[in-house]
Amino acid sequence: MVQYTDELKEEIRSANDIVDVISQYVSLKRSGRNFFGLCPFHKEKSPSFSVSADRQYFHCFGCHKGGDVFTFVSEIEKVSFKEALELLAERAKIQLPVSENPEFNKKQYLKDRMYKVNSEATIFYHERLYKPLAKIAQDYVKQRKLDNNTLKAFKIGYSGEYNELYKHLKSKSFKDEEILATGLVNKNDRGEYIDRFRKRLMFPILDVSGRVIAFGGRKLDNNEKTAKYINSNENLVYSKKKNLFALNLAKQSDSKNIILVEGYMDAISLYQRGFNNVVASLGTALTEEQGRLLRRYCEQVILSYDSDGAGQEAIMRGLTILEDQGCDARVLQMDGAKDPDEYVIKYGSGRFKMLVDNAISLVEFKIKMLKNKYNLENSNDKIRFLKEITKVLSDVDNKIEKEIYIDKISKQYNISKEAIYAEVNKATYTSKKDEKVLIKPKIKKEEVVEINPAIIKRENMIIYLLINYFRESYEKIVTNIFLEDFKLESNKLLFETILNSQAEESDKILQIISNIEDSEIQSHVSEILVTDYEINSVDKCIEDLVNTYNKERLANRKMEIVHILDNKSSELSKDEISKLEQELSDIIVELAKKK
Ligand code: UTP
Ligand code: MN
Repeated sequence: MVQYTDELKEEIRSANDIVDVISQYVSLKRSGRNFFGLCPFHKEKSPSFSVSADRQYFHCFGCHKGGDVFTFVSEIEKVSFKEALELLAERAKIQLPVSENPEFNKKQYLKDRMYKVNSEATIFYHERLYKPLAKIAQDYVKQRKLDNNTLKAFKIGYSGEYNELYKHLKSKSFKDEEILATGLVNKNDRGEYIDRFRKRLMFPILDVSGRVIAFGGRKLDNNEKTAKYINSNENLVYSKKKNLFALNLAKQSDSKNIILVEGYMDAISLYQRGFNNVVASLGTALTEEQGRLLRRYCEQVILSYDSDGAGQEAIMRGLTILEDQGCDARVLQMDGAKDPDEYVIKYGSGRFKMLVDNAISLVEFKIKMLKNKYNLENSNDKIRFLKEITKVLSDVDNKIEKEIYIDKISKQYNISKEAIYAEVNKATYTSKKDEKVLIKPKIKKEEVVEINPAIIKRENMIIYLLINYFRESYEKIVTNIFLEDFKLESNKLLFETILNSQAEESDKILQIISNIEDSEIQSHVSEILVTDYEINSVDKCIEDLVNTYNKERLANRKMEIVHILDNKSSELSKDEISKLEQELSDIIVELAKKK
């Protein structure tokens, strides 16, 4: 396997600020020296994920994942360390030397050609839509009320027959390998090249940065046997679950929210009618990656799924994914049309805007679902309904928000506020009780349980000082504190690494440490680095530490001597005994002085 040089690794590291990189996945807020957010590696409601801008490290105090920018990318993208490095090189537009990794550069080159094929195909399809032979497509877009600006904005097109695109791409000197890689053309058993999309209305799918990565093609006839849409398959440049149709446009909108719809046509139709903040999930249930992507561009997402299409389950899942990303997720409720496109054509954009403004939250949506389950005229059902809604409400952490909901529910379903409060308090209490029982026996690691936390903290601080204040602290620490003093294995290894490193400055130390390929060590290091030890004076801090260790050594020696004198004096000479007694009294005096 090809190894990249340390210099190259450092170049890539310094070109990718960890706060910028992580911000692409997590919404971070600054607090003091660090940034905080909801951990992308485990589910949580209050942020325990911390990023240090100074030290370029992240750590989650909840799930204990941590490390540098390479670790983060490899964990979040679920790729190897080496691939993470390549992704970050690409992000920073750093050319990896050909000799270092020929496969990677070949792949990069192919990707680049695929984007060019896609872009050429987009132009080909789009221009073809305006030709006389495209009458059927022109009639269709008219019937769907798409105007010319919209056709231009989305580069909508009309695909050819048989192998027209293939021939066109060949005339532009693309290689077969490059064309096939995009999936726009397939090779059949007889070795002929056939276009994948034929006589369909073409929707190019762009990534966030505006590159064409795939296509969706709608049929123009009513043939029951053919699929309404066919889409590009996943390939080197296209991952369905990581992209959203029209996000490249929506991200430019100054709207505070993004409307999420199911269909290409919904997004396009709403865009034409002034909603420039619409994206479509690409024919799948919303994925976590898409949720994260949305969170990067706005704080509020409004789900506007088809009224018949997606089940309530899909909506609930979508809302939950978005809320887990820290999004304010809402559901638009629509009657009288099967999808947003039909609605906005039928009732106009003003009415649709009203639906957007009245979109309801996850809690309200859940309550509405419950209401459909029960007959509120029936008093037994009403009691059950009340019990169920309080379960939903007890998950709402924000007090004011909870009060607003209770107010609304009380009015809407004609239940007294007191009754709701009484149930909510009961539910909150029981759920908290259960939580305690569950959490108590769960303790992180064996070694942590055995070693006194104060000792761990002290050791962590030594490592912290060595990393952050190398010049000021190194001499004083190594002449007074020794490898044997360390109790926690991770700290022992870090201390040893620093001693052996012959480094002369903090940055170098950090670099050496971040190269230790052990996730447990990295998790520990990241915890140390993102913790604020509030060090005002390095000298004073070291002095205190050294004092503590000296005291401890004396106390240990004292115990040892007492033990020997108590148990083994018969084996010792008089001389040895009196020497020990002298040492003991010296220690006692010394310890008394230190107190
Ligand atoms: P819809 O059937 O709601 O599509 O499917 P639409 O955009 O509203 O299309 P029109 O209005 O009927 O022309 C929603 C999305 O699901 C995917 C497409 O991405 C579509 O936009 N889909 C649907 C497919 O991929 N294949 C299909 O056969 C149908
Ligand atoms: Mn539709």
